[in-house]
Amino acid sequence: MQATKPSETKVVLTGIKPTNHPHIGNYIGAIRPGIELVSQAEHSLLFIADYHALTTVQDPKELREYTLSVAATWIACGLDPERTVIYRQSDVPEIFELAWILSCVTPKGLLNRSHAYKAKVQENQTAEKEDLDFGISMGLFSYPVLMAADILLFNTDIVPVGEDQVQHVEVARDIAQKFNRVFGDVLKLPNHFLKAESVVPGLDGRKMSKSYGNHIPLFLESKKMRKMIMKIITDSTPPEAPKEPKGSVLYTLYKEFSSINQANELANLYREGVGWGEVKQMLFERIEEYFKGPALTYNDLISHPEKIDAILKDGGMRARDLAEPTMKKVRAAVRG
Ligand code: ADP
Ligand code: TRP
Repeated sequence: MQATKPSETKVVLTGIKPTNHPHIGNYIGAIRPGIELVSQAEHSLLFIADYHALTTVQDPKELREYTLSVAATWIACGLDPERTVIYRQSDVPEIFELAWILSCVTPKGLLNRSHAYKAKVQENQTAEKEDLDFGISMGLFSYPVLMAADILLFNTDIVPVGEDQVQHVEVARDIAQKFNRVFGDVLKLPNHFLKAESVVPGLDGRKMSKSYGNHIPLFLESKKMRKMIMKIITDSTPPEAPKEPKGSVLYTLYKEFSSINQANELANLYREGVGWGEVKQMLFERIEEYFKGPALTYNDLISHPEKIDAILKDGGMRARDLAEPTMKKVRAAVRG
């Protein structure tokens, strides 16, 4: 499969599962590059994959909270809802109609080979469970079909994803090919675009992840953010001892939010000898400064959820309009 540059293409689409409040790792690894990519495309769509999240988030209050938080974060960080159609997956019923139709041409074996399902089966094997499908819902199993519908409904050219989602875009391609073989040439074959992965370390130096509990949420209130940054684990090197910036969590994070000059200044301080407390204070101030504008927008949106609902509702209607021509063709192709 060919990975094409978004700037050479027409329709760029990506989805985000609302399973947490976005953290700094999500920002650097997904949100910042995602906004850059969609801004280069002729048409772009970004949606909150709330029904995909249902495989794990089954508390409606939580689902709504994360949905609003993810949408507000992307908008606060620069996603322009006028330019990019931003919507909630569950507001576009055509996706689920298409998902069913696609599931009828999808070989079950294709889904048996899907990595999320295989990983769960493997877990059961390791735990010596008698039923290898223990704890696996149909939603988890058919997750890639729904994702194929998300993508194929909009004649998507490019899907920017992280490494772990490449297989799902390939499955979408396979399913589209199968559909076209059975019903005629209706669905466009998408390509993935692999984002350059920079792994952001968390408080304990491992990859920042909600599942490790070592993440720094994006829009923390100032005092809490400072406290959080003070928690970043450092070694016991005394302040005056020269230090190596490379590989230091504090330096790695600082660099993400500063100019080359600012990063070089900190690297020099490291080499001259600087106390970790001082570096942490610098990092805190850098992050505060960097997110000052976005935090204002985020807080305004989060305290007025009706504004986010209105943006998503409008996006949902635009998405349905965009989906209609494909859905008409699909219905005509399958129903005769
Ligand atoms: P988490 O591990 O906290 O559950 P997700 O798996 O929901 O995060 O990640 C969502 C997106 O954010 C993915 O595109 C992933 O590549 C990116 N991402 C998450 N954590 C990091 C990190 N530590 N460094 C870089 N990118 C990350
Ligand atoms: N599966 C993706 C993830 O876990 C989210 C997603 C759902 C998605 N539908 C999509 C991504 C369509 C790109 C295109 O991150």
